[in-house]
Amino acid sequence: MNKIKSIVVASLALAVGLVSCDSGNMRRTPGHIYAPDMTYSRAYDAYTSNPNFEDGLTSRKPVTGTISRGQEMPDHMVEGDTSYYKTFNTSLRFTDNDIDEGRRLFNIYCGICHGTGLDGQGPLYTNGKFASMPANLKDAKYLHMPAGQMYAAIKYGKNMMGAYASQLDIKQRWMVIAYIKKVQSENGGDAYTYAASATSAPAPAADTAAKAN
Ligand code: HEC
Repeated sequence: MNKIKSIVVASLALAVGLVSCDSGNMRRTPGHIYAPDMTYSRAYDAYTSNPNFEDGLTSRKPVTGTISRGQEMPDHMVEGDTSYYKTFNTSLRFTDNDIDEGRRLFNIYCGICHGTGLDGQGPLYTNGKFASMPANLKDAKYLHMPAGQMYAAIKYGKNMMGAYASQLDIKQRWMVIAYIKKVQSENGGDAYTYAASATSAPAPAADTAAKAN
């Protein structure tokens, strides 16, 4: 009895096997899809045509005058366009806390070479491990350096100095620059212009002159 059963099972299996091998009988209709909502997007995909807009495009251009998220702060420059660097700046203003953060970041990323005193005497240079003298940011040569030029040095690097774009995000770069500019203004540099509030901003030159009289 068992023998007959196994012969039947074996021949059925063989029949099924042979039928499934029949390539002349290709399936032309797809099977059922579980959760078609998830398989096929109901939203318009980026490159599909779209009847809702006159031009039929799904991908829309940003509305004129809008700024993408993460792009609120100035970061757009063309590497090597040094004359543009000189005019590049930010209208961001910085609180005392921002300046403290700028100092903290400077001491972490820049102080090793430029020195925490910004005088180019960082430990990596003074102990002879780094051959090229880092810029002395308190030297006359750098005291009036445009902020955009500093930004370019941080973003792209400068000769022996590597780029710090991957360590500092856009706001952090500007905070570091604001900190440098603050220190420079106290060491013979240009008047500090990045203060967040009128109270911490330096008095205009005319005012100062009037008070002195
Ligand atoms: C590994 C050492 C090193 C580190 C770290 C470093 N620098 Fe420099 N930096 C240099 C050297 C060397 C120069 C001089 C480059 C030249 O003019 O040839 C320089 C130049 C500069 C200049 C002048 C750029 C110019 O156009 O002349 C600025 C501004 C500056 N660094 C800022 C920074 C800031 C901000 C940081 C931190 C984010 C930093 N550096 C980190 C070595 C370093």
